[in-house]
Amino acid sequence: MATPASTPILVTCALPYANGPVHLGHLVEHIQTDLYVRALRSLGEDVVFLCADDTHGAPIELNALKQGLSPEQFIAKWFDEHTSVFRDFQVSHDHYGSTNSAENQHYANLIYGRAKEAGAIGKKDVEQPFDAKAGRWLSDRFIRGTCPNCKSPDQYGDACEVCNATYTPRELIDARSAISGEALEWKKSSHAFFLLSKHGEFLKQTLADASFINPGPAAQLGQFFAKGLADWDITRDGPYFGFPIPGETNQFFYVWLDAPIGYIASTEQWVKKTGRGKSALDYWSEDSNATIVHTIGKDIVYFHCLFWPAVLKVAKLKRPAKVHIHGHLTVNGEKMSKSRGTFINARPYLDVLDPNYLRFYYASLLGSGPEDIDLSLKEFRERTNAELVNNLGNLANRTLTLLAKEFGGQLAPANPAVGKPLVEGALAKVKAIVDAFRGFESRAAVKAILEIGYSANQFLTAHEPWKKLKDPGTREAAHQALSEAAEIVFLLTALLEPIVPELAQKLAKQLARPSFTLKQASAAAYPILDRQARIGEPSPLINRLEPEQVDKLIAAAPPPPDKPKKKDEKKPEKKADAPPPAEIEFGDFTRVALKAGRVLACEKVPNADKLLKLSVDLGEGTPRTIVSGIAEAYAPEQLPGRGVVVVANLKPRPLKGIESRGMILTAGKGGKDLILLDPGDVAPGTEVK
Ligand code: MSP
Ligand code: ZN
Repeated sequence: MATPASTPILVTCALPYANGPVHLGHLVEHIQTDLYVRALRSLGEDVVFLCADDTHGAPIELNALKQGLSPEQFIAKWFDEHTSVFRDFQVSHDHYGSTNSAENQHYANLIYGRAKEAGAIGKKDVEQPFDAKAGRWLSDRFIRGTCPNCKSPDQYGDACEVCNATYTPRELIDARSAISGEALEWKKSSHAFFLLSKHGEFLKQTLADASFINPGPAAQLGQFFAKGLADWDITRDGPYFGFPIPGETNQFFYVWLDAPIGYIASTEQWVKKTGRGKSALDYWSEDSNATIVHTIGKDIVYFHCLFWPAVLKVAKLKRPAKVHIHGHLTVNGEKMSKSRGTFINARPYLDVLDPNYLRFYYASLLGSGPEDIDLSLKEFRERTNAELVNNLGNLANRTLTLLAKEFGGQLAPANPAVGKPLVEGALAKVKAIVDAFRGFESRAAVKAILEIGYSANQFLTAHEPWKKLKDPGTREAAHQALSEAAEIVFLLTALLEPIVPELAQKLAKQLARPSFTLKQASAAAYPILDRQARIGEPSPLINRLEPEQVDKLIAAAPPPPDKPKKKDEKKPEKKADAPPPAEIEFGDFTRVALKAGRVLACEKVPNADKLLKLSVDLGEGTPRTIVSGIAEAYAPEQLPGRGVVVVANLKPRPLKGIESRGMILTAGKGGKDLILLDPGDVAPGTEVK
């Protein structure tokens, strides 16, 4: 194997589905990763930023069908949308590929072959719904029927869009093929499984490494070990939009098998494009000296931190050194919602606002942890104006404008007595800023940059060059102060480049100098500006953000669709927020019997990662079985002995085949953000009012 001379860092973002437009949530990931990559480049590191579209699977096939397009035409359309949006947001991917490529098929086959050879693949019979009339197997998306929970008709095979219940097609009432309308037939098919259960010890060790994964998300993966790692069905029966499995008839790789392999395929395409090596294996072989860093959202940790390392291990390929996990974007404190107009796509944003605002705002919020970040539109506008426009933009503009207008763009020679403390104070922060960028902690970088801007503004306020200009006796002092402040403007070209590259370049152009780099800034000493050369022509860095403009952002959001769109393959997303319920009579409220209960026992519900099955004492003699969607917030062992508040007179309803008798009350947004309401120290069965 030809090893490249340098030790490159391969950085990836999760591959967006070629199933819809880029939205502001996706951009959290691409902007955060771009900040990291640009900082590394500016430090002189050999870094390669790769991504691609994730193109396979049933939802894409179904949506193409609905639009009367072939899957290939459908994904080509989204490829153009995605790449043009990323370009316009200045996301500097070195290559953006597609999982529907010859390179990806090559590596999917290679990895499958190596896994088979290593004994890592097993065969099991799987019983699945089949449409005899259409002659095809049916994924959940191709099945419709009546919700077993709320009895709404015409629901998908996996989840109800009306009541949010999740279930299997077996539980769906009167389940039929969405293609022919025929009742489902259940047939057996032999599937290839990746034997994940063999890799428990290896994965435990991998997850214990805090440089690989943040300990919070790592602990959450503990639940999968608790119930025993399940082998992973990597087969889908055709027709399926994906790659045929070598040696099998009419069977295809499950989209989540070939999706991460897209990282390798994208590397291969980049290698071919640039001539940087012979093949992707220069970087992905076990003995390569490359460092691989993945950035992903908190919803796909399972795939990247369990399956992917195990697959790479059996295929004797390089495993990622780090999987950086970010949180999700909320808008005005809530999950993005089509009905509220807060589901903001990237292209409509660009139609009304400058991308630099969003890059700066995201940078000021993002850290290395998996916490959600909020685009509060009020805070977005206020902080943009206070920080980017006033603090940094005005510093640059008043300094450069006065130098250009009053002194013909000529700088005064360096005067350490005046400028050294200011410039050295700023340079002293460069190391912390660089470390912050390296550690995905851009909010700390932004904070330090704003402190530098603030100190330079204070310096100008103290020296008052605008007053001193007018008097010939003090004019030289004004020139001196402005020239020292210009040092900070120059430093900002390096510090701001990862965050707002276009604005950093604009500043460099106004200074008529090449941009400073983080590498240069790290080694710099006063004076950092060559005082001989004149500056160029100043102009305002960026305009203020006005309320009307931000309002347009909401107006630009697409109108709510007739029916909420859903995703397959991943767990169904929570429904867009409904308007608050109408007022009810007091009598309506008294019809709800709320009671204090105590949890006696608790366990996971098989094949349902959100659900726990609880046995709850309600003072009735026999404990009740209640299924509750709190599994992401609580581990089963945390609950026995705890008090809970229960809706005791809810009609029994089946959840994942278990009859749930009552509902447990919680507060929070859902997922892991849920807390159980505590009835206090009262006997089980006590009424709650
Ligand atoms: N195709 C898979 C990833 C395969 S990687 C081998 C996928 N695609 S996605 O389009 O649904 O999401 C792509 C990335 O965007 C994921 O990392 C996901 O977490 C992230 N985000 C999607 N919505 C998001 C927010 N609202 N906020 C922040 N990130 C979000 O998953
Ligand atoms: Zn329902």
